[in-house]
Amino acid sequence: MRGLIFTEFIALVEEKFGLAMSDDILSQPGLTDGGAYTSVGNYDHREMLALVTALAERSGLPADELCRVFGEWLFTKLARGFDFAVKPHRDAFSFLQSLDGVIHVEVKKLYPDARLPSVPVTRCDERELVMEYRSERPFADVAEGLIRGCLAWYGERATLHREPLGADGARAARFTVNRTGARP
Ligand code: HEM
Repeated sequence: MRGLIFTEFIALVEEKFGLAMSDDILSQPGLTDGGAYTSVGNYDHREMLALVTALAERSGLPADELCRVFGEWLFTKLARGFDFAVKPHRDAFSFLQSLDGVIHVEVKKLYPDARLPSVPVTRCDERELVMEYRSERPFADVAEGLIRGCLAWYGERATLHREPLGADGARAARFTVNRTGARP
């Protein structure tokens, strides 16, 4: 997985939990280069799971909640870093509809070694949008956080509902967004 995702996770840990915590979780054995991640590197996603597990153990917060908070944080960072992705859209439904077919496709051109999840929108009207997440990696909680971050970015008032798709809800989930306010 792209090093950018790792460096953003460490930045979040530093900001919310402090340097001692980030040093602590990075000092566990088995991390590539002793946890000295760079944004241009590429690392095994299981190292991210090890970092989240270590943070959950040390902070007492559940790992799924930490992943959602990370996803929300990550959306803001991605939106700032890849403004070609957010600029053309004035609301979250429009953005989310272009994620699978345009944005992640452009990301793949920039980083051919990226392995992106499939995130097609399978239904959309003025009030409701349905997105299906499928990945070889168990990051549905991060996806949920990213969608929440996206809704906040565009100032949408909406509810988000999630259900597992099949036996492994961490690798495949259906998200339903319902607008509760006017379109921004
Ligand atoms: C500005 C918008 C976005 C950009 C530029 C972007 C880009 C990226 C990049 C670079 C990766 C790393 C892939 C790799 O290293 O293999 C990634 C992974 C991911 N993306 Fe996006 N993304 C964006 C928005 C979203 C949103 C809104 C979702 C919500 C469903 C999403 C879902 C994911 C997930 C869950 C992963 C982790 C890998 C996995 O689950 O397989 N992304 N994205």
